[in-house]
Amino acid sequence: MAAFSGSVLIYIGLALYLATVVYSIFKFARRTITRRNLRRDLSQQYQCQPIQTKFPHKDPILGLDLFISNARAAWQHQFLETVNRRHDEIGETYQLNMLGTVGIMTRDPEIIKTVLSTHFKDYSLDAERKKALKPLLGNGIFATDGQVWAHSRAVLRPQFTRAQLMDLSMLEKHVGRLIDLVPHNGEEIELQELMLRFTMDMATDFLFGESTDGLLAGREGPYGQGTLQGFAESVQYAQHRMAMHVALGWWALLKPDLQFRHHVRVVHDFIDGFVQKELREHRPGVKHKTYVLLQALVEDVKDPMQIRDELVNILIAGRDTTASLISNVFFVLSRRPDIWRKLREEVRQHFEGKLPRFDQIPQCKYVRYTINESLRLFPPVPVNSRVAVCDTVISRGGGADGHAPVLITQGTPIVYNISGLHRREDVYGADAEEFKPERWEALRVGWQFLPFSGGPRVCIGQQFAITEASYVLIRFLQTFESVECVDETPWQEKISLTVSSLNGVRVRFRRAL
Ligand code: HEM
Ligand SMILES: *[C@@H]1O[C@H](CO)[C@@H](O)[C@H](O)[C@H]1NC(C)=O
Ligand SMILES: *[C@@H]1O[C@H](CO)[C@@H](O)[C@H](O)[C@H]1NC(C)=O
Repeated sequence: MAAFSGSVLIYIGLALYLATVVYSIFKFARRTITRRNLRRDLSQQYQCQPIQTKFPHKDPILGLDLFISNARAAWQHQFLETVNRRHDEIGETYQLNMLGTVGIMTRDPEIIKTVLSTHFKDYSLDAERKKALKPLLGNGIFATDGQVWAHSRAVLRPQFTRAQLMDLSMLEKHVGRLIDLVPHNGEEIELQELMLRFTMDMATDFLFGESTDGLLAGREGPYGQGTLQGFAESVQYAQHRMAMHVALGWWALLKPDLQFRHHVRVVHDFIDGFVQKELREHRPGVKHKTYVLLQALVEDVKDPMQIRDELVNILIAGRDTTASLISNVFFVLSRRPDIWRKLREEVRQHFEGKLPRFDQIPQCKYVRYTINESLRLFPPVPVNSRVAVCDTVISRGGGADGHAPVLITQGTPIVYNISGLHRREDVYGADAEEFKPERWEALRVGWQFLPFSGGPRVCIGQQFAITEASYVLIRFLQTFESVECVDETPWQEKISLTVSSLNGVRVRFRRAL
């Protein structure tokens, strides 16, 4: 009897199990069919057509040929060039296989606008980017999506829309130190490394009210003096590691890195120290002599972790990008004495040797044209991507002529190529490859010019970066008679989280008498 009831129980159990399995399969099938129907409806509603333009893969399953070709191009520092050439040969928008994931590559402003703005909610940051940035950037603005991102943005945005964001006296202090390190007599100097130190000193001063003071250490000196000793090196280290992770995806994990955690901790501990001190000593409503973001943030945010996360996010988002912009401007000017002379004349007329005031900076039109032209040809963030979080549609790229909408299924990555966009001859003319500030006299651009991205996630530091870069340029123009290049090699990319010049910026300055 006991044996009988035991086997009955087993049969009942088995039957229940089978029923569950059948039900799961049924549910899965129904979901698949429903999803397929929804996709079909969406596709019909928008009259989508398949993308016919495809990367001519030799390996259509994993796309290893493209991976190897990209790796080789990156190795030879021709990644960007290779990709652009591909657009000219293949088309503005094409499908490609990225190690088994089928994605879209585009330099079409319509599609970029759809992804970044009109259908903003249908896309998120690349999961690998979030994973790579998380250890250092935590829940800050630059590494999150959705509600968490929206909250960060709401907290930070008002700070950056103040009429006069930055203190020019703070800027002048650091620019003065920078100029002191530049030889007057035509001796060679590598400017890009100095600019990275300059933007680190400036950013830490602006964010924490304490500077790394790397420029005080002399021309060959180490980063990080005084209270922030060791901070800059740890930022550098962590950033390098994150860039590898972003570039290689999970492949980067094949080479474990035990020091990474240590450097992340160093960076966090420094900032936590400043945050604790500010939370302790902060007196509401008391105006400080110079604007410091930390002091402004503690008025609105009480969670020390969130304050730290936002500060480190802004440091990472703003520092290398701005250094890259200023360096690239000098890279070009050292080869273009004609532009240098014209800039010098403009600056002489505006300031007559006096320090620029905040409201005067935008009046220097030719300075602004030059900076825009540098951002056009050498955007510090030249390629970026998003992933569809639901089934959605892009308005172009499908059909034989590439003009029909395309269905984008959930999980599809869309890579958009800003440097490709900025060199389109149909937008910028046949001389698109030429550095020509004058083109900005008449140029009106929208989604064709996106150095700071666009839509709800547009860079919040655009004004800050433009002011900083303009100020440095103006002060150099006031101080030096000429700049010439030492190394004639054309600009080559160095890819990290942002893109800078591979060979640095080797130049000679001569001081005005
Ligand atoms: C020339 C200098 C700069 C360039 C080219 C640049 C470019 C960009 C780009 C392309 C994005 C969008 C990234 C994406 O959505 O995937 C971005 C976002 C951002 N930038 Fe900048 N940036 C520069 C300077 C700065 C500065 C100086 C700051 C702050 C002081 C800053 C703070 C930010 C922040 C916080 C975000 C994230 C915004 C968000 O996701 O809502 N940037 N920047
Ligand atoms: C982006 O386009 C530019 C210019 O068309 C090209 O040189 C570059 O290789 C492209 N980058 C990528 C990643 O496709
Ligand atoms: C430079 O580019 C910005 C977009 O970043 C644009 O708003 C501005 O009008 C441009 N400046 C000039 C002088 O065309």
